[in-house]
Amino acid sequence: MNMTTPTADQLAAFAHIGQEHLIRHAESLDAGARERYLAELGAFDPDELAPLIERYVRQDGSLPPPTTLEPAQVIAMDDPSREPARHTGEALIRAGKVACFTVAGGQGSRLGYDGPKGCFPTACATDKPLFQIFAEGIAGAQNRYGVTIPWYIMTSPLNHETTAAFFAQHAHFGLRPDAIRFFPQGVMPSFDKSTARMLLAEPGVLATNPDGHGGSFRALRVSGALEDMQRRGVEHLSYFQVDNPHARPVDPVFLGLHASSPNSSGQFSSKMVAKASWDEKVGVFCEADGRTQVIEYSDLPVELAKQTDDAGRLRFNAGSIAIHAISVDFIDKVSGDPDFALPFHRAVKKVPHFDPESQRHIDPAEPNAVKLERFVFDAIPMADQSIVVETDRVEEFAPVKNATGTDSIESSKRLQTERAARWLEACGVSVPRHPDGTPNAVIEISPLTAQDPEQLRETDLPTRIEPGATVVL
Ligand code: UD1
Repeated sequence: MNMTTPTADQLAAFAHIGQEHLIRHAESLDAGARERYLAELGAFDPDELAPLIERYVRQDGSLPPPTTLEPAQVIAMDDPSREPARHTGEALIRAGKVACFTVAGGQGSRLGYDGPKGCFPTACATDKPLFQIFAEGIAGAQNRYGVTIPWYIMTSPLNHETTAAFFAQHAHFGLRPDAIRFFPQGVMPSFDKSTARMLLAEPGVLATNPDGHGGSFRALRVSGALEDMQRRGVEHLSYFQVDNPHARPVDPVFLGLHASSPNSSGQFSSKMVAKASWDEKVGVFCEADGRTQVIEYSDLPVELAKQTDDAGRLRFNAGSIAIHAISVDFIDKVSGDPDFALPFHRAVKKVPHFDPESQRHIDPAEPNAVKLERFVFDAIPMADQSIVVETDRVEEFAPVKNATGTDSIESSKRLQTERAARWLEACGVSVPRHPDGTPNAVIEISPLTAQDPEQLRETDLPTRIEPGATVVL
Protein backbone atom coordinates (compact mmCIF):
# COMPACT_ATOMS: atom_id res chain seq x y z
CA MET A 1 0.00 0.00 0.00
CA ASN A 2 1.23 3.48 -0.78
CA MET A 3 1.32 5.20 2.61
CA THR A 4 1.56 8.95 2.25
CA THR A 5 -0.05 11.53 4.47
CA PRO A 6 -2.89 13.17 2.58
CA THR A 7 -2.71 16.87 1.84
CA ALA A 8 -5.32 19.29 3.21
CA ASP A 9 -6.98 19.18 -0.23
CA GLN A 10 -7.20 15.40 -0.17
CA LEU A 11 -8.73 15.50 3.30
CA ALA A 12 -11.25 18.01 2.04
CA ALA A 13 -11.97 15.62 -0.83
CA PHE A 14 -12.77 12.84 1.68
CA ALA A 15 -15.18 15.20 3.42
CA HIS A 16 -16.67 16.01 0.05
CA ILE A 17 -17.50 12.35 -0.64
CA GLY A 18 -19.40 11.91 2.61
CA GLN A 19 -16.48 10.82 4.80
CA GLU A 20 -16.16 13.85 7.09
CA HIS A 21 -16.39 11.54 10.11
CA LEU A 22 -12.89 10.36 9.19
CA ILE A 23 -11.51 13.89 9.41
CA ARG A 24 -13.25 14.57 12.71
CA HIS A 25 -11.86 11.31 14.03
CA ALA A 26 -8.30 12.37 13.13
CA GLU A 27 -8.65 15.34 15.43
CA SER A 28 -9.42 13.07 18.39
CA LEU A 29 -6.14 11.13 18.04
CA ASP A 30 -2.78 11.93 19.61
CA ALA A 31 0.03 13.00 17.28
CA GLY A 32 1.59 9.54 16.67
CA ALA A 33 -1.73 7.77 16.14
CA ARG A 34 -2.93 10.59 13.89
CA GLU A 35 0.11 10.33 11.69
CA ARG A 36 -0.33 6.57 11.23
CA TYR A 37 -4.05 6.97 10.64
CA LEU A 38 -3.62 9.70 8.04
CA ALA A 39 -0.97 7.65 6.27
CA GLU A 40 -3.42 4.75 6.06
CA LEU A 41 -6.11 7.06 4.76
CA GLY A 42 -3.71 8.58 2.27
CA ALA A 43 -3.36 5.19 0.54
CA PHE A 44 -6.88 5.68 -0.83
CA ASP A 45 -7.74 8.19 -3.50
CA PRO A 46 -11.07 9.90 -2.81
CA ASP A 47 -11.53 10.56 -6.54
CA GLU A 48 -11.31 6.83 -7.23
CA LEU A 49 -13.53 5.91 -4.30
CA ALA A 50 -16.31 8.38 -5.10
CA PRO A 51 -17.75 6.55 -8.14
CA LEU A 52 -17.36 3.19 -6.41
CA ILE A 53 -19.30 4.40 -3.38
CA GLU A 54 -22.06 5.71 -5.63
CA ARG A 55 -22.23 2.58 -7.72
CA TYR A 56 -21.66 -0.26 -5.31
CA VAL A 57 -22.24 1.02 -1.78
CA ARG A 58 -25.20 3.35 -2.05
CA GLN A 59 -26.76 0.90 -4.50
CA ASP A 60 -25.99 -2.52 -5.91
CA GLY A 61 -24.49 -1.59 -9.24
CA SER A 62 -22.86 -4.96 -10.00
CA LEU A 63 -23.15 -5.88 -13.66
CA PRO A 64 -26.00 -8.32 -14.26
CA PRO A 65 -25.01 -11.52 -16.09
CA PRO A 66 -25.34 -11.29 -19.89
CA THR A 67 -28.83 -12.15 -21.16
CA THR A 68 -27.70 -14.64 -23.78
CA LEU A 69 -25.74 -17.17 -21.81
CA GLU A 70 -24.78 -20.54 -23.28
CA PRO A 71 -22.81 -23.31 -21.62
CA ALA A 72 -19.08 -23.08 -22.37
CA GLN A 73 -17.38 -25.56 -24.71
CA VAL A 74 -15.35 -28.05 -22.73
CA ILE A 75 -12.38 -30.31 -23.55
CA ALA A 76 -13.76 -33.60 -22.22
CA MET A 77 -11.96 -36.21 -20.13
CA ASP A 78 -11.60 -38.59 -23.10
CA ASP A 79 -10.49 -35.99 -25.63
CA PRO A 80 -7.67 -37.46 -27.78
CA SER A 81 -5.67 -34.22 -27.66
CA ARG A 82 -4.74 -34.87 -24.04
CA GLU A 83 -1.88 -37.31 -24.51
CA PRO A 84 0.07 -35.21 -27.06
CA ALA A 85 -0.53 -32.20 -24.80
CA ARG A 86 1.26 -33.98 -21.95
CA HIS A 87 4.54 -33.83 -23.89
CA THR A 88 4.16 -30.12 -24.57
CA GLY A 89 3.38 -29.48 -20.91
CA GLU A 90 6.30 -31.57 -19.68
CA ALA A 91 8.65 -29.76 -22.04
CA LEU A 92 7.46 -26.39 -20.69
CA ILE A 93 7.98 -27.50 -17.11
CA ARG A 94 11.43 -28.99 -17.79
CA ALA A 95 12.49 -25.80 -19.53
CA GLY A 96 11.68 -23.78 -16.37
CA LYS A 97 8.86 -21.92 -18.09
CA VAL A 98 6.21 -22.76 -15.48
CA ALA A 99 5.77 -21.30 -11.99
CA CYS A 100 3.09 -21.88 -9.38
CA PHE A 101 0.82 -19.13 -8.16
CA THR A 102 -1.32 -19.56 -5.05
CA VAL A 103 -3.89 -17.01 -3.94
CA ALA A 104 -3.85 -17.04 -0.17
CA GLY A 105 -4.99 -13.57 0.77
CA GLY A 106 -8.57 -14.40 1.72
CA GLN A 107 -9.78 -13.98 5.29
CA GLY A 108 -11.06 -17.55 5.71
CA SER A 109 -13.83 -16.32 7.99
CA ARG A 110 -16.20 -19.17 7.01
CA LEU A 111 -13.71 -21.72 8.28
CA GLY A 112 -13.57 -19.99 11.66
CA TYR A 113 -9.77 -20.32 11.75
CA ASP A 114 -7.78 -17.40 12.98
CA GLY A 115 -4.51 -17.83 11.08
CA PRO A 116 -3.77 -17.81 7.36
CA LYS A 117 -5.78 -20.61 5.73
CA GLY A 118 -2.65 -22.20 4.30
CA CYS A 119 -1.51 -22.99 7.86
CA PHE A 120 -4.69 -24.96 8.56
CA PRO A 121 -4.03 -28.64 9.47
CA THR A 122 -5.54 -30.50 6.53
CA ALA A 123 -3.89 -33.77 5.47
CA CYS A 124 -6.19 -36.66 6.39
CA ALA A 125 -3.76 -38.71 8.50
CA THR A 126 -0.88 -36.39 9.41
CA ASP A 127 -2.73 -33.07 9.62
CA LYS A 128 -0.05 -31.41 7.48
CA PRO A 129 -1.02 -27.83 6.69
CA LEU A 130 -2.21 -26.87 3.22
CA PHE A 131 1.01 -25.00 2.47
CA GLN A 132 3.04 -28.14 3.19
CA ILE A 133 0.85 -30.26 0.91
CA PHE A 134 1.48 -27.82 -1.96
CA ALA A 135 5.19 -27.53 -1.09
CA GLU A 136 5.51 -31.31 -1.30
CA GLY A 137 3.63 -31.26 -4.60
CA ILE A 138 6.08 -28.71 -5.95
CA ALA A 139 9.10 -30.60 -4.57
CA GLY A 140 7.76 -33.82 -6.12
CA ALA A 141 7.38 -32.13 -9.50
CA GLN A 142 10.87 -30.62 -9.19
CA ASN A 143 12.30 -34.10 -8.62
CA ARG A 144 10.33 -35.52 -11.49
CA TYR A 145 11.26 -32.85 -14.03
CA GLY A 146 14.71 -31.89 -12.75
CA VAL A 147 13.98 -28.19 -12.46
CA THR A 148 13.32 -25.50 -9.86
CA ILE A 149 9.70 -24.39 -9.96
CA PRO A 150 9.27 -20.90 -8.52
CA TRP A 151 6.26 -20.41 -6.26
CA TYR A 152 4.47 -17.06 -5.94
CA ILE A 153 2.12 -16.73 -3.00
CA MET A 154 -0.29 -13.84 -2.74
CA THR A 155 -1.00 -12.86 0.84
CA SER A 156 -2.88 -9.86 2.18
CA PRO A 157 -1.61 -7.14 4.52
CA LEU A 158 -3.65 -8.95 7.20
CA ASN A 159 -1.75 -12.26 6.94
CA HIS A 160 1.49 -11.46 5.09
CA GLU A 161 3.89 -11.50 8.05
CA THR A 162 2.33 -14.58 9.64
CA THR A 163 2.46 -16.48 6.34
CA ALA A 164 6.11 -15.66 5.68
CA ALA A 165 7.00 -16.50 9.30
CA PHE A 166 5.22 -19.86 9.03
CA PHE A 167 7.36 -20.82 6.04
CA ALA A 168 10.52 -19.66 7.80
CA GLN A 169 9.64 -21.68 10.94
CA HIS A 170 9.23 -24.78 8.79
CA ALA A 171 12.41 -24.25 6.78
CA HIS A 172 10.24 -23.54 3.72
CA PHE A 173 9.20 -27.20 3.79
CA GLY A 174 12.44 -28.12 2.08
CA LEU A 175 12.00 -25.78 -0.89
CA ARG A 176 14.60 -23.17 -1.84
CA PRO A 177 13.65 -19.94 -0.04
CA ASP A 178 14.84 -17.88 -3.02
CA ALA A 179 12.32 -19.65 -5.26
CA ILE A 180 9.36 -18.66 -3.07
CA ARG A 181 8.04 -15.13 -3.24
CA PHE A 182 5.30 -13.74 -1.03
CA PHE A 183 3.59 -10.52 -1.99
CA PRO A 184 0.57 -8.84 -0.43
CA GLN A 185 -2.53 -7.93 -2.39
CA GLY A 186 -4.27 -4.60 -1.97
CA VAL A 187 -7.12 -3.75 0.35
CA MET A 188 -10.34 -1.79 0.03
CA PRO A 189 -12.16 0.12 2.75
CA SER A 190 -15.19 -1.64 4.24
CA PHE A 191 -18.25 0.62 4.15
CA ASP A 192 -21.27 0.97 6.39
CA LYS A 193 -24.18 -0.42 4.38
CA SER A 194 -26.71 2.26 5.31
CA THR A 195 -24.57 5.41 5.51
CA ALA A 196 -21.85 4.50 2.94
CA ARG A 197 -19.26 5.71 5.45
CA MET A 198 -15.86 4.06 5.64
CA LEU A 199 -15.73 2.05 8.85
CA LEU A 200 -13.02 2.10 11.51
CA ALA A 201 -11.69 -1.20 12.84
CA GLU A 202 -10.56 0.54 16.04
CA PRO A 203 -9.59 4.07 17.02
CA GLY A 204 -7.14 5.35 14.44
CA VAL A 205 -7.39 2.28 12.19
CA LEU A 206 -9.58 1.90 9.10
CA ALA A 207 -11.62 -1.26 8.58
CA THR A 208 -10.38 -2.78 5.34
CA ASN A 209 -10.73 -6.05 3.44
CA PRO A 210 -8.53 -7.71 0.83
CA ASP A 211 -9.54 -6.54 -2.64
CA GLY A 212 -10.34 -10.03 -3.99
CA HIS A 213 -8.12 -12.41 -5.96
CA GLY A 214 -8.81 -10.14 -8.93
CA GLY A 215 -6.44 -7.78 -7.13
CA SER A 216 -3.67 -10.22 -8.01
CA PHE A 217 -2.96 -8.82 -11.47
CA ARG A 218 -2.17 -5.40 -10.06
CA ALA A 219 -0.39 -6.83 -7.01
CA LEU A 220 1.82 -9.00 -9.25
CA ARG A 221 2.89 -5.88 -11.11
CA VAL A 222 3.38 -3.42 -8.25
CA SER A 223 5.17 -5.96 -6.03
CA GLY A 224 7.76 -6.71 -8.71
CA ALA A 225 6.70 -10.39 -8.83
CA LEU A 226 5.80 -10.06 -12.51
CA GLU A 227 9.22 -8.67 -13.30
CA ASP A 228 10.78 -11.49 -11.27
CA MET A 229 8.90 -14.03 -13.42
CA GLN A 230 10.10 -12.38 -16.60
CA ARG A 231 13.68 -12.33 -15.31
CA ARG A 232 13.49 -16.06 -14.56
CA GLY A 233 12.03 -16.84 -17.98
CA VAL A 234 8.68 -18.01 -16.57
CA GLU A 235 6.01 -17.97 -19.30
CA HIS A 236 3.01 -19.60 -17.65
CA LEU A 237 1.54 -19.68 -14.17
CA SER A 238 -0.22 -22.64 -12.69
CA TYR A 239 -2.86 -20.87 -10.55
CA PHE A 240 -4.70 -22.45 -7.64
CA GLN A 241 -6.47 -21.42 -4.47
CA VAL A 242 -5.03 -22.11 -1.05
CA ASP A 243 -8.18 -23.97 0.01
CA ASN A 244 -7.87 -27.03 -2.26
CA PRO A 245 -5.36 -29.71 -1.16
CA HIS A 246 -6.13 -31.74 -4.31
CA ALA A 247 -4.95 -28.98 -6.65
CA ARG A 248 -1.92 -30.38 -8.52
CA PRO A 249 0.70 -27.64 -8.41
CA VAL A 250 1.79 -28.44 -11.98
CA ASP A 251 -0.27 -30.55 -14.35
CA PRO A 252 1.54 -31.21 -17.65
CA VAL A 253 -1.61 -32.19 -19.56
CA PHE A 254 -3.47 -29.03 -18.58
CA LEU A 255 -0.46 -26.81 -19.19
CA GLY A 256 0.10 -28.47 -22.56
CA LEU A 257 -3.50 -27.96 -23.63
CA HIS A 258 -3.33 -24.35 -22.44
CA ALA A 259 -0.17 -23.68 -24.45
CA SER A 260 -0.93 -25.63 -27.62
CA SER A 261 -4.62 -26.41 -28.07
CA PRO A 262 -5.89 -24.85 -31.32
CA ASN A 263 -8.76 -23.27 -29.38
CA SER A 264 -6.50 -21.70 -26.78
CA SER A 265 -4.70 -18.40 -27.10
CA GLY A 266 -2.40 -19.66 -24.34
CA GLN A 267 -3.45 -16.72 -22.19
CA PHE A 268 -6.02 -17.90 -19.63
CA SER A 269 -7.28 -21.48 -19.36
CA SER A 270 -9.38 -23.20 -16.72
CA LYS A 271 -10.35 -26.55 -15.26
CA MET A 272 -13.91 -27.63 -14.54
CA VAL A 273 -15.72 -30.49 -12.86
CA ALA A 274 -19.32 -31.54 -13.44
CA LYS A 275 -21.40 -29.77 -10.81
CA ALA A 276 -22.56 -31.94 -7.90
CA SER A 277 -26.00 -30.29 -7.86
CA TRP A 278 -27.68 -27.30 -9.44
CA ASP A 279 -27.08 -25.21 -6.35
CA GLU A 280 -23.47 -26.20 -5.67
CA LYS A 281 -21.52 -23.10 -4.68
CA VAL A 282 -19.13 -22.99 -7.61
CA GLY A 283 -18.83 -20.53 -10.46
CA VAL A 284 -20.04 -21.84 -13.84
CA PHE A 285 -18.25 -21.59 -17.19
CA CYS A 286 -20.55 -19.98 -19.74
CA GLU A 287 -20.25 -18.39 -23.12
CA ALA A 288 -21.62 -14.99 -24.06
CA ASP A 289 -20.93 -13.24 -27.36
CA GLY A 290 -18.46 -15.99 -28.25
CA ARG A 291 -16.39 -15.38 -25.12
CA THR A 292 -15.83 -17.73 -22.24
CA GLN A 293 -16.58 -16.41 -18.81
CA VAL A 294 -17.36 -17.52 -15.27
CA ILE A 295 -20.67 -16.57 -13.77
CA GLU A 296 -20.34 -16.75 -10.01
CA TYR A 297 -22.84 -19.03 -8.25
CA SER A 298 -24.53 -16.11 -6.57
CA ASP A 299 -25.10 -14.43 -9.97
CA LEU A 300 -26.35 -17.35 -12.09
CA PRO A 301 -30.13 -17.04 -12.45
CA VAL A 302 -31.85 -19.98 -10.71
CA GLU A 303 -33.82 -20.93 -13.83
CA LEU A 304 -30.57 -21.32 -15.76
CA ALA A 305 -28.86 -23.16 -12.91
CA LYS A 306 -31.72 -25.70 -12.90
CA GLN A 307 -32.01 -26.17 -16.67
CA THR A 308 -31.36 -29.72 -17.90
CA ASP A 309 -30.60 -31.15 -21.35
CA ASP A 310 -32.43 -34.01 -23.10
CA ALA A 311 -30.49 -36.55 -21.08
CA GLY A 312 -31.53 -34.86 -17.81
CA ARG A 313 -28.05 -33.45 -17.11
CA LEU A 314 -27.57 -29.90 -15.91
CA ARG A 315 -27.07 -27.68 -18.94
CA PHE A 316 -24.82 -25.26 -17.06
CA ASN A 317 -22.74 -28.06 -15.64
CA ALA A 318 -19.16 -26.81 -15.90
CA GLY A 319 -18.28 -25.95 -12.30
CA SER A 320 -15.15 -23.90 -11.71
CA ILE A 321 -12.61 -25.37 -9.30
CA ALA A 322 -10.58 -22.17 -9.58
CA ILE A 323 -7.58 -23.83 -11.20
CA HIS A 324 -6.18 -21.87 -14.12
CA ALA A 325 -3.16 -21.57 -16.36
CA ILE A 326 -2.34 -17.94 -17.11
CA SER A 327 0.43 -16.58 -19.28
CA VAL A 328 2.83 -14.04 -17.87
CA ASP A 329 2.54 -12.01 -21.09
CA PHE A 330 -1.22 -11.80 -20.63
CA ILE A 331 -0.88 -10.54 -17.05
CA ASP A 332 1.73 -8.04 -18.23
CA LYS A 333 -0.44 -6.81 -21.08
CA VAL A 334 -3.64 -6.50 -19.09
CA SER A 335 -2.14 -5.07 -15.90
CA GLY A 336 0.04 -2.66 -17.88
CA ASP A 337 -2.98 -1.10 -19.54
CA PRO A 338 -3.83 2.14 -17.70
CA ASP A 339 -7.51 1.54 -18.44
CA PHE A 340 -7.36 -1.98 -17.02
CA ALA A 341 -9.84 -2.50 -14.25
CA LEU A 342 -11.73 -5.62 -13.40
CA PRO A 343 -15.25 -4.90 -12.19
CA PHE A 344 -16.00 -4.90 -8.49
CA HIS A 345 -18.42 -7.29 -6.85
CA ARG A 346 -20.36 -6.23 -3.79
CA ALA A 347 -20.68 -8.45 -0.74
CA VAL A 348 -22.74 -7.55 2.31
CA LYS A 349 -21.03 -8.93 5.42
CA LYS A 350 -20.83 -8.55 9.19
CA VAL A 351 -17.93 -6.26 10.05
CA PRO A 352 -17.24 -5.51 13.73
CA HIS A 353 -16.09 -1.91 14.06
CA PHE A 354 -15.51 1.13 16.23
CA ASP A 355 -18.08 3.90 16.14
CA PRO A 356 -16.20 7.22 16.56
CA GLU A 357 -19.36 9.07 17.55
CA SER A 358 -20.47 6.88 20.44
CA GLN A 359 -16.85 5.76 21.06
CA ARG A 360 -18.13 2.16 21.24
CA HIS A 361 -17.04 -1.09 19.63
CA ILE A 362 -19.91 -2.62 17.71
CA ASP A 363 -20.28 -6.33 17.04
CA PRO A 364 -23.16 -6.42 14.58
CA ALA A 365 -25.77 -9.17 14.80
CA GLU A 366 -26.74 -8.69 11.15
CA PRO A 367 -24.66 -7.94 8.03
CA ASN A 368 -23.90 -4.23 8.30
CA ALA A 369 -21.14 -3.58 5.79
CA VAL A 370 -20.34 -3.61 2.10
CA LYS A 371 -17.06 -5.17 1.00
CA LEU A 372 -15.81 -4.67 -2.54
CA GLU A 373 -13.82 -7.39 -4.29
CA ARG A 374 -12.50 -8.13 -7.75
CA PHE A 375 -12.51 -11.67 -9.17
CA VAL A 376 -9.58 -12.94 -11.23
CA PHE A 377 -11.85 -14.92 -13.54
CA ASP A 378 -13.37 -11.67 -14.82
CA ALA A 379 -10.16 -11.40 -16.87
CA ILE A 380 -11.06 -14.56 -18.86
CA PRO A 381 -13.14 -12.69 -21.47
CA MET A 382 -10.11 -10.44 -22.07
CA ALA A 383 -8.21 -13.44 -23.47
CA ASP A 384 -8.42 -13.90 -27.23
CA GLN A 385 -9.54 -17.52 -26.83
CA SER A 386 -9.90 -19.43 -23.60
CA ILE A 387 -10.28 -23.16 -23.04
CA VAL A 388 -12.05 -25.07 -20.27
CA VAL A 389 -10.69 -28.53 -19.50
CA GLU A 390 -12.77 -31.16 -17.73
CA THR A 391 -11.29 -33.03 -14.82
CA ASP A 392 -12.38 -35.60 -12.27
CA ARG A 393 -13.85 -34.16 -9.09
CA VAL A 394 -12.24 -36.56 -6.61
CA GLU A 395 -8.87 -36.20 -8.32
CA GLU A 396 -8.68 -32.44 -8.13
CA PHE A 397 -11.25 -30.90 -5.82
CA ALA A 398 -11.36 -31.40 -2.06
CA PRO A 399 -11.78 -27.83 -0.80
CA VAL A 400 -11.68 -26.73 2.82
CA LYS A 401 -13.99 -23.77 3.09
CA ASN A 402 -16.43 -24.32 5.93
CA ALA A 403 -16.07 -25.46 9.54
CA THR A 404 -18.56 -28.31 9.04
CA GLY A 405 -20.68 -29.94 6.33
CA THR A 406 -20.11 -29.36 2.61
CA ASP A 407 -16.57 -28.34 1.63
CA SER A 408 -15.35 -28.71 5.21
CA ILE A 409 -12.25 -30.30 6.68
CA GLU A 410 -14.28 -33.51 7.23
CA SER A 411 -15.44 -33.73 3.62
CA SER A 412 -11.94 -32.86 2.38
CA LYS A 413 -10.35 -35.61 4.49
CA ARG A 414 -12.89 -38.14 3.19
CA LEU A 415 -12.06 -37.15 -0.37
CA GLN A 416 -8.32 -37.36 0.31
CA THR A 417 -8.71 -40.95 1.50
CA GLU A 418 -11.01 -41.78 -1.41
CA ARG A 419 -8.48 -40.52 -3.94
CA ALA A 420 -5.65 -42.41 -2.26
CA ALA A 421 -7.79 -45.58 -2.20
CA ARG A 422 -8.50 -45.28 -5.93
CA TRP A 423 -4.83 -44.82 -6.73
CA LEU A 424 -3.90 -47.86 -4.64
CA GLU A 425 -6.63 -49.96 -6.25
CA ALA A 426 -5.38 -48.85 -9.67
CA CYS A 427 -2.00 -50.30 -8.59
CA GLY A 428 -3.60 -53.59 -7.61
CA VAL A 429 -3.64 -52.99 -3.83
CA SER A 430 -6.73 -54.28 -2.05
CA VAL A 431 -8.48 -51.54 -0.06
CA PRO A 432 -11.25 -52.45 2.43
CA ARG A 433 -14.50 -50.62 1.82
CA HIS A 434 -17.64 -50.17 3.92
CA PRO A 435 -20.97 -51.41 2.53
CA ASP A 436 -21.68 -47.86 1.28
CA GLY A 437 -18.47 -48.01 -0.78
CA THR A 438 -16.37 -45.61 1.29
CA PRO A 439 -12.87 -46.81 2.32
CA ASN A 440 -12.64 -48.50 5.72
CA ALA A 441 -9.26 -46.89 6.43
CA VAL A 442 -7.57 -43.50 6.48
CA ILE A 443 -5.01 -43.27 3.69
CA GLU A 444 -2.68 -40.38 2.99
CA ILE A 445 -0.26 -40.33 0.07
CA SER A 446 2.32 -37.56 0.21
CA PRO A 447 2.74 -35.74 -3.11
CA LEU A 448 6.44 -36.43 -2.59
CA THR A 449 5.68 -40.15 -2.90
CA ALA A 450 3.38 -39.90 -5.91
CA GLN A 451 1.22 -37.42 -7.74
CA ASP A 452 -0.74 -39.97 -9.78
CA PRO A 453 -1.32 -43.74 -9.88
CA GLU A 454 1.44 -44.25 -12.49
CA GLN A 455 4.02 -42.76 -10.16
CA LEU A 456 2.60 -44.68 -7.20
CA ARG A 457 3.08 -47.94 -9.09
CA GLU A 458 6.84 -47.29 -9.13
CA THR A 459 7.00 -47.32 -5.31
CA ASP A 460 7.01 -50.15 -2.75
CA LEU A 461 3.38 -50.87 -1.96
CA PRO A 462 1.64 -53.24 0.46
CA THR A 463 -0.58 -55.85 -1.18
CA ARG A 464 -3.53 -54.88 0.99
CA ILE A 465 -4.68 -52.27 3.48
CA GLU A 466 -6.07 -53.65 6.76
CA PRO A 467 -9.62 -52.65 7.73
CA GLY A 468 -9.61 -49.62 10.04
CA ALA A 469 -5.91 -48.91 9.42
CA THR A 470 -4.32 -45.49 9.16
CA VAL A 471 -1.74 -45.57 6.38
CA VAL A 472 0.72 -42.88 5.35
CA LEU A 473 2.67 -43.43 2.15
C1 UD1 B 1 -14.38 -19.64 -5.19
C2 UD1 B 1 -14.80 -19.06 -6.53
C3 UD1 B 1 -15.83 -19.95 -7.20
C4 UD1 B 1 -15.23 -21.35 -7.35
C5 UD1 B 1 -14.82 -21.88 -6.00
C6 UD1 B 1 -14.10 -23.19 -6.12
C7 UD1 B 1 -14.63 -16.70 -6.03
C8 UD1 B 1 -15.28 -15.41 -5.93
N1 UD1 B 1 -15.37 -17.73 -6.31
O1 UD1 B 1 -15.49 -19.55 -4.34
O2 UD1 B 1 -16.17 -19.46 -8.48
O3 UD1 B 1 -16.17 -22.20 -7.95
O4 UD1 B 1 -13.92 -20.97 -5.34
O5 UD1 B 1 -13.61 -23.61 -4.90
O6 UD1 B 1 -13.43 -16.82 -5.91
N2 UD1 B 1 -8.69 -14.96 -1.97
C9 UD1 B 1 -7.60 -14.12 -1.96
N3 UD1 B 1 -7.84 -12.79 -1.79
C10 UD1 B 1 -9.07 -12.26 -1.63
C11 UD1 B 1 -10.18 -13.14 -1.64
C12 UD1 B 1 -9.95 -14.49 -1.82
O7 UD1 B 1 -6.46 -14.54 -2.09
O8 UD1 B 1 -9.18 -11.04 -1.49
C13 UD1 B 1 -8.45 -16.40 -2.14
C14 UD1 B 1 -8.76 -17.16 -0.88
O9 UD1 B 1 -7.65 -17.22 -0.04
C15 UD1 B 1 -9.16 -18.49 -1.44
C16 UD1 B 1 -9.80 -18.15 -2.79
O10 UD1 B 1 -9.31 -16.88 -3.13
O11 UD1 B 1 -8.03 -19.27 -1.72
C17 UD1 B 1 -11.33 -18.29 -2.82
O12 UD1 B 1 -11.95 -17.25 -2.22
P1 UD1 B 1 -13.43 -17.32 -1.64
O13 UD1 B 1 -13.87 -15.92 -1.50
O14 UD1 B 1 -13.45 -18.17 -0.43
O15 UD1 B 1 -14.28 -17.97 -2.82
P2 UD1 B 1 -15.33 -19.19 -2.79
O16 UD1 B 1 -16.66 -18.74 -2.35
O17 UD1 B 1 -14.70 -20.30 -2.08
